[in-house]
Amino acid sequence: MESNDSDDGTLPTMSTISRHNFGDNPEKPDLCISVIENMKEDYGLFVWPCSIVLAEYIWQQRQRFSGTSVVELGAGTSLPGLVAAKVGADVTLTDDSSRLEVLDNMRKVCDLNKLKCNVLGLTWGVWDSSIFNLQAKVILGADVLYDSNAFDDLFATVTFLLQKSPGSVFITAYHNRSGHHLIEFLMVKWGLKCVKLLDGFSFLPPCKASMLSGNIQLAEITLI
Ligand SMILES: C[S@@+](CC[C@H](N)C(=O)[O-])C[C@H]1O[C@@H](n2cnc3c(N)ncnc32)[C@H](O)[C@@H]1O
Repeated sequence: MESNDSDDGTLPTMSTISRHNFGDNPEKPDLCISVIENMKEDYGLFVWPCSIVLAEYIWQQRQRFSGTSVVELGAGTSLPGLVAAKVGADVTLTDDSSRLEVLDNMRKVCDLNKLKCNVLGLTWGVWDSSIFNLQAKVILGADVLYDSNAFDDLFATVTFLLQKSPGSVFITAYHNRSGHHLIEFLMVKWGLKCVKLLDGFSFLPPCKASMLSGNIQLAEITLI
């Protein structure tokens, strides 16, 4: 990941553009995504490590995403959704409806990367009309499992979207702080099953793995 501070006045103060490369040859990437981050912001305007893991997974599985409808929840700076859009998915990026600066940043990163994604306010556990129009084969969530107080709202939304679109899957990368108990507990509680569980570092190229730390898991979750 490279980063450039904005010194030409085109970005708000404390903003920076980071560049994220994909492909086997770091010198000659097949895909480069630019993301606007804001160093003053602690959640939605920062590229969290889980989104680097999830974006890499999407890149490596890109055939699967081509032509697929994708919704990213809690997208923030939206790196996974942007990669999905670049490889041909029809992408809706969402974040908390009250976080207007985050939603505005999403529109800017779409323009920056010459992508036409839908950008939508979608607060977990809230049933605005917007959620009823969504039909996604793949639901993405990077680092959305960090506040246990929000788990029920998040999984109410995830389960609703999975039920709306038969055969759909929720793919999430999260910091594993409690062994496999967290996912096991949530699966039982919400009537879901985890069909794939990977160590996030098992598929990251060394140049990305060396910049990240912690225990990041990637899970694919479906209805039972
Ligand atoms: C830790 S950040 C992860 C951001 C991004 N996915 C990433 O990995 O870089 C959590 C994201 O979830 C969003 N979020 C938190 N609570 C939410 C809620 N109740 N409804 C929708 N989005 C929420 C935040 O605005 C933020 O963008």
